[in-house]
Amino acid sequence: MKPIVFPRSKLVSADLLTQESQRAATDQDEAAAEGSLPAEHAAAELPRTLTREVEVDPLRLESERILPPGATGMHGGPYKMLRTQVLQRLDKLGANTIAVLGTTADTGKTLTAINLSIAIAAEHERHALLVDLDLRKPSIHRRLGVEPLAGIDDCLRRGRSPRDAMLRLGGYERLTVLPARERCLDSSELLAQRRSEELLTEMRERYRDRVLVFDLPPVLQADDALVFARHVQAALVVVSEGRTRRDDLRRAVELLRDVPIIGTVLNGTREPAENYY
Ligand SMILES: Nc1ncnc2c1ncn2[C@@H]1O[C@H](COP(=O)(O)OP(=O)(O)OP(=O)(O)O)[C@@H](O)[C@H]1O
Ligand SMILES: [Mg+2]
Repeated sequence: MKPIVFPRSKLVSADLLTQESQRAATDQDEAAAEGSLPAEHAAAELPRTLTREVEVDPLRLESERILPPGATGMHGGPYKMLRTQVLQRLDKLGANTIAVLGTTADTGKTLTAINLSIAIAAEHERHALLVDLDLRKPSIHRRLGVEPLAGIDDCLRRGRSPRDAMLRLGGYERLTVLPARERCLDSSELLAQRRSEELLTEMRERYRDRVLVFDLPPVLQADDALVFARHVQAALVVVSEGRTRRDDLRRAVELLRDVPIIGTVLNGTREPAENYY
C-alpha cells in the first residue's frame, strides 16, 4: 500500500500495512460498567453515575500539538485519515482495543495515541477511551494539563474501579481519558499480573461500544509493551522519521510477532530527543 503523504503537517504519512491478523459508551453503559449487570439491564436498574469532567486550556493543547475538539485545525486531516483507516481495520477484525507502540523513546507514540483518540471521538457515532499505560512515565495528564485524582495504576494496584479514575475533557464529546497517576517502578510486574488481563477484558466488554486506545512505553526499552500487547486485539506502530532505526523496527516487529499489527504511522517529529528515564 502506498504511503499517504500529508502536506502541511509533520505527521507525514500513515501507511497502514496489510496484515490481516480487528466506541463512548452511552451514559447507560457507563452506569452498567459500575455494576455487575450486563449493560442492557443495568440501564434500568442502576443510577447514572457521572464521569468527572475537567476543563482544558486550548492554548496549552495547541502548544502540545493536541487537536481541538472535532479534530479540526491544520493537523486534523492526517489524523482523520489515520482514524478512518484504523477504524476500518478494527471493524473488520471485530475489535475495540488498540495499542500504540514504537521502538524507542520520543517517536511520537503518546501524541499519536491522544490525537487518534480525539479523531475517533470526532466521528459522531464513535467513542474513544484513551488509557495511559506508560506507567514508567505517565504523561497524558500532563500533556492535557489535568490533575488526576486516581489513575489506572490505582486500578491495577489497589483494585479501584476504572470509573473512579476516568475523566472527560471539557469540549470533547465522546472522549474519555483514563490517566495514570504516578510513576510505577514495578510497571511490568503490574502489567503482567492476572489483574491486568482481567481489567482489560472487563473494560473491553463493558465499554464495547468504545475504541480503547492504549499508550505504552517503547517496545525496546522496557518489557511493559510486550507484556501488555498480548492482551490487545490490534497494534499500531509509530515510526519516527529520522529517529527510528530500521534494525530496531525489525527487532520490535519480531518481538511483537504475536500481536496483530494493523498498521504503521510514519511520524515526522524532529524535536530534540530526551533521555527516557
Ligand atoms: N508529528 C509531530 N510533530 C511535531 N512534534 C511532535 C510530533 N510527534 C511528536 N512530537 C513531539 O515530540 C515529543 C515526543 O513525542 P511523544 O511524547 O508523543 O513521543 P513518545 O514516543 O510517546 O515518547 P516516550 O517514548 O518518551 O513516551 C513531544 O514533545 C511531542 O510533542
Ligand atoms: Mg509516550
